[in-house]
Amino acid sequence: MEAVHDVVILGSGLAGLRAAVEAARVSNDELDIAIVSRVQLVRSHSVCAEGGTAAVMQPEEGDSLELHAWDTVRGSDFLADQDVVKRFVEESPKEILQLEHWGIPWSRRHDGRINQRPFGGHSFDRATFAEDKTGFFEMHTLYDTLQKFARVTRYDECYVTSILVDNGVFQGITAWALTSGEFFLIKGKALVIAAGGACRMFAFTTYSLSATGDGMAMAYRAGLPLKDMEFVQFHPTGLVPSGILITEGARGEGGYLINNKGERFMEKYAPSKMETAPRDIVSRSEMTEILEGRGFSRPDGLDYVHLDLRHLGADRINERLPLIREVAIKLASIDPIEKPIPIRPAAHYCMGGIRTDIDGATPVEGIWAGGEVACVSLHGANRLGANSTAECLVWGKIIGEKAARYAMARGSVAPTPPQRIQEEERRLFGWIGHGNGKEDVFLIRAELQRLMDKNVSIYRNGPDLEAALKKVRELKQRVEHVRVVDTSRIYNTNLVAVLETINLIDLAETIVLGALARTESRGAHSRTDFPDRDDVNWTRHTLAYYSPEGPRLEYSSVNISMWQPVERKY
Ligand code: FUM
Repeated sequence: MEAVHDVVILGSGLAGLRAAVEAARVSNDELDIAIVSRVQLVRSHSVCAEGGTAAVMQPEEGDSLELHAWDTVRGSDFLADQDVVKRFVEESPKEILQLEHWGIPWSRRHDGRINQRPFGGHSFDRATFAEDKTGFFEMHTLYDTLQKFARVTRYDECYVTSILVDNGVFQGITAWALTSGEFFLIKGKALVIAAGGACRMFAFTTYSLSATGDGMAMAYRAGLPLKDMEFVQFHPTGLVPSGILITEGARGEGGYLINNKGERFMEKYAPSKMETAPRDIVSRSEMTEILEGRGFSRPDGLDYVHLDLRHLGADRINERLPLIREVAIKLASIDPIEKPIPIRPAAHYCMGGIRTDIDGATPVEGIWAGGEVACVSLHGANRLGANSTAECLVWGKIIGEKAARYAMARGSVAPTPPQRIQEEERRLFGWIGHGNGKEDVFLIRAELQRLMDKNVSIYRNGPDLEAALKKVRELKQRVEHVRVVDTSRIYNTNLVAVLETINLIDLAETIVLGALARTESRGAHSRTDFPDRDDVNWTRHTLAYYSPEGPRLEYSSVNISMWQPVERKY
């Protein structure tokens, strides 16, 4: 089967839905738009975003675009591109109001104005929120808005297997409909990749099971470079033992981090910002407390510290953090009104991703990328909380519009030779029948996750990274020999696990190699053997290009148009 659309959107999270709405809007519903998602439309990982969306909404009270830009650049440890940051802070307030006009129930102050809460690394209360379910309400508002447009086709529960590019120009994607087992080609004039990040390569993570970096890996194999992959964010408050996110909003509302001596230990590490310092600093501080014996131990090694909300009182917790209370009760049997919550840092966000320019355009004509899958270089070496949902909205809009205008101008797309699709179909379903393979994909994935948690985590060093690279390359060989015992084409989750694991391994290789090469500490990349930031040699972005032998690294410059790097202190 072959389907043809004007704009194809890969991914249905915040960036994908925002892009779809914009593409439909700027073309006056003229364009035929496809949204292809491996899950049902509103079940993307973006619904898990909790705490807020950063934007300057109270200039009369002292906030400013310049301050938001400075917080973002300093938070990034001076690796963000400053022209990108400038555009971001200018656009994000417009997105808050746009969602307001589309009906989102933002939390309000008593006088009716949109409320905002403190968030890590921001020097003003600028995380706009809807209780502690911000992503959920944003997604549903975009989904509702999308219903106004007639020419949007949904491919739910469709696993995309490759991106087709000819002579540097986008042609289409190949997809496997999990519900029917059908394999088909989706041709398009423009592609928007908004398929999320890859932290499922870590075991202790805030990510949904479905966020396995497929879009990033496919783009990489199609020849698009990945940028700054070594920078992985660890969120300070993953619930122990599941890893489920306990929003930074809990600290924004006034929660304390406490060690086993009953001390608010952030006083030692970031005395002026305390629990609302940037995430890289808070996560390192927690790990230091745990490693130096001031955490609480568990037999499974998931040692933790406490997040204490009790002093906030039942009313505030119920009003501002109802989801957190529900999650803590259901998944840790702890009611935060009565007891502190056990937490530790959890893999949460990829600062790296598909390289794009400031308009979200990739180096391949006809392909744009936005949201976590992309690296437009807004976050540099460390993202500030609440800047991610804002980025999804800002660049979702930008790339939706750019892709739509390109599609309106592009003539018809040349046919794709059937052999190409047949080859991909054979490659995919060739796995079925590997029933005698000697490897188990679930064990391989577990090995990868343990390795990444242990060797490529908050604190890194040369020997651990060398060992990780060797092991990742061994897993890359071994995954070729996995058995797929399910022989059906319909909902073959065994085969899906194989494809996901191959993707995670390829991406892990780019992270480890980039981390090994970067002989400095900056933002979330903290090397005990190179503890200082090295501005002379390393104020540059890493680019990873695919080759069958492994990633080839190159480097590119950072836009420093507003502030020169200075020491980062909180
Ligand atoms: O803590 C949180 O609510 C997460 C927000 C973010 O990653 O921006």
